[in-house]
Amino acid sequence: MPRMIVFANRKGGCGKTTTAVNVAHALALRNRKVLLLDADPQAHASISLGYPSDSLTSGIYDLLTGASSPADVIIPTRLKKLSLIPASRHLTAFEMDYSSRSGCESLLAEKLSDTVFNDLSVFDYLIIDPPPTVGLLTVSALVAAKEVFIPMPMHFLAMEGLAEMMRLIYTVNAAWNPALRMAGIIPTFYNKQTKLARELGEEIRTNFGEDRLLPAIRMNVSLAEAPGYGQTVLEYAPASAGAKDYKKLALHIERMGRV
Ligand SMILES: Nc1ncnc2c1ncn2[C@@H]1O[C@H](COP(=O)(O)OP(=O)(O)OP(=O)(O)O)[C@@H](O)[C@H]1O
Ligand SMILES: [Mg+2]
Repeated sequence: MPRMIVFANRKGGCGKTTTAVNVAHALALRNRKVLLLDADPQAHASISLGYPSDSLTSGIYDLLTGASSPADVIIPTRLKKLSLIPASRHLTAFEMDYSSRSGCESLLAEKLSDTVFNDLSVFDYLIIDPPPTVGLLTVSALVAAKEVFIPMPMHFLAMEGLAEMMRLIYTVNAAWNPALRMAGIIPTFYNKQTKLARELGEEIRTNFGEDRLLPAIRMNVSLAEAPGYGQTVLEYAPASAGAKDYKKLALHIERMGRV
């Protein structure tokens, strides 16, 4: 089975999608076979890879409803070793239609289990990009994954959001997925010059341990520009600080898996 990873934070705009897309591509460039699953109705991960949501006919929603099989919804992207399950148009409907059904939180995990998804084992990594809300889609992603990484801007009140994420992880542990663990915190929009960033880094080390603080992603304009061209930063600006930071992070995540 692949490593099942989700980049999650209940805060919006903290770098979840940027991290999912660029770590996915950086791992693919390291010759790992990666499947990126866009579980956000905003379809930002799909768009970032050059698949505008209006061009998508089937995707994750059809997998969840059983209308399509996993093989039908996987797009082999133009990037070598990187495949995508896009968000598709109707994903918003999933939260509305399924939230009241019993067992709905485990539906995604079931669809990604090896009995349903025979070909999943060809991938080394499955990376899920959830929406910023703590609704059914985010919970489903946490129930399906094994490792959650939390991208976190070193901003005021960031620690409060982190505490809420930890509570959500414990809830998921207790109710659905005891195997899920918080694998690391990724400082995003990082500026090491600021005192606050240093202090928050210290606080994370103290509370979670040195090994839970992952390599930081600096604030970098290429990261914000690349999605507009439907490209990862590794394609758009391979020499940029953003590309370097994501390569370093991907290598770190890869090595974590070996221990
Ligand atoms: N390190 C960075 N430096 C500069 N801009 C960044 C950086 N990381 C992300 N961005 C930009 O900030 C915005 C928010 O990032 P992103 O979409 O990855 O966050 P998100 O957590 O997925 O948001 P949402 O909660 O809407 O899903 C995007 O426009 C993105 O291009
Ligand atoms: Mg996003």
